[in-house]
Amino acid sequence: MVLFTCHRHSDRMALRYLLRQVPLHCNRTSPLLQFMFQALPRGSKKYALEHLSGVRLCAQLPAPSITDTKDTQKTDSSASAAEKIKNLDEEMTKKLKILQLEYEVMKQLGSFRVPDNMTDELWLEMLTFPTVSARKRYYRYLKKVEAAKLGRQLKRQKKLEDSLVKEQDKPSQSKNTIFMFIRKSTINSFYYSRLAHAMMFGQPIIFDMSFENYMRKQDVHRLCEQFLMGYGSNKVHPDPFHFVLSGNQSNSMFQNCLDNTRVNKHEEEHFLMTNSDQHYLNLYPREKLVYLTPDAPSVLQTFDHDAIYVVGGLVDKVVPKPLTMAKAKKERLKMAKLPLDNYIRWGCGNKSLTLNQVVDILLEVKRGSSWTEAFRHIPQRKIRYLLKD
Ligand SMILES: C[S@@+](CC[C@H](N)C(=O)[O-])C[C@H]1O[C@@H](n2cnc3c(N)ncnc32)[C@H](O)[C@@H]1O
Repeated sequence: MVLFTCHRHSDRMALRYLLRQVPLHCNRTSPLLQFMFQALPRGSKKYALEHLSGVRLCAQLPAPSITDTKDTQKTDSSASAAEKIKNLDEEMTKKLKILQLEYEVMKQLGSFRVPDNMTDELWLEMLTFPTVSARKRYYRYLKKVEAAKLGRQLKRQKKLEDSLVKEQDKPSQSKNTIFMFIRKSTINSFYYSRLAHAMMFGQPIIFDMSFENYMRKQDVHRLCEQFLMGYGSNKVHPDPFHFVLSGNQSNSMFQNCLDNTRVNKHEEEHFLMTNSDQHYLNLYPREKLVYLTPDAPSVLQTFDHDAIYVVGGLVDKVVPKPLTMAKAKKERLKMAKLPLDNYIRWGCGNKSLTLNQVVDILLEVKRGSSWTEAFRHIPQRKIRYLLKD
């Protein structure tokens, strides 16, 4: 399945680019054509039909339902959480009261920083933590999230105030400049056209999203953030990868998180990538796949432009386990680790990098940079010193 929605005039550029390629490279049953007609709104569909002469079209598929928007989802889930709390059995109700008392004591005494607000959904989650230390860990995480949210709100407010002040201070002839004004949407259209090209002819990179059961909710959130950072780096790269999410179920926590944390909520941000619930072996030939895993016995010496690299969609900071190595071994796939030891004298922390760091490194070597240059994307605190090539 490919997610591609087209709402604005600005997307026409990407669409026009796709359409120019379609008659040359796709037959009528191509998944590309199908996704285009599945997702295009009416105006753009007409536009596509007009420009697709010479190609017999596949049946037009119904547009995906977008009725369950974020707000309705939120109210639904909080209503069902309230319902669940009401229907708790006697023992669980007692436990919940004890937890709420524990929370109030922590809050009043200030002995431990707890979030200011607890929703019914959060209480239901709290009930699943058996120990005080597990609950404290989760409180700490929730407090952090709350503080970040508040920080974002303040920042937004300050930005708004600043822009108002700037507007007032602006000289009346500010538009009288020799520099051409390029809109953000125009720049985005340019990026989209490159991503669209990568989706058709570019090198795929697979993110294996089948590890959700091994992660806590906060880990999935971190993974989502890392993925968005990686997507952002890829979007502005001159020769981007074709991002492929494999094994990502439509009701997964990750998908939910992705839906809720659109890169820029005030703009329509489209993810030009393949988002599939299929296993990667059903999508690409086995012999091309190389699973990147920090526990692999072999080292990736050079970047192969024909290989399809698989990156584990996993955050396991608390208890790291060689899960991707075990999976690649079980599926008899080629595997490799990044050549960190050849170029770096390691400082602190383990050699397992985050998903966005791995993407940044691969993008760097993809454009022809050396490993030493690429490893600048690793945080400085981890590196004692970098060796020369
Ligand atoms: C945070 S790591 C997860 C580590 C986890 N213990 C595992 O089994 O893969 C996320 C992903 O980034 C990639 N990765 C991280 N460090 C790597 C390294 N040194 N070499 C190769 N791939 C790496 C792997 O694909 C890994 O699955």
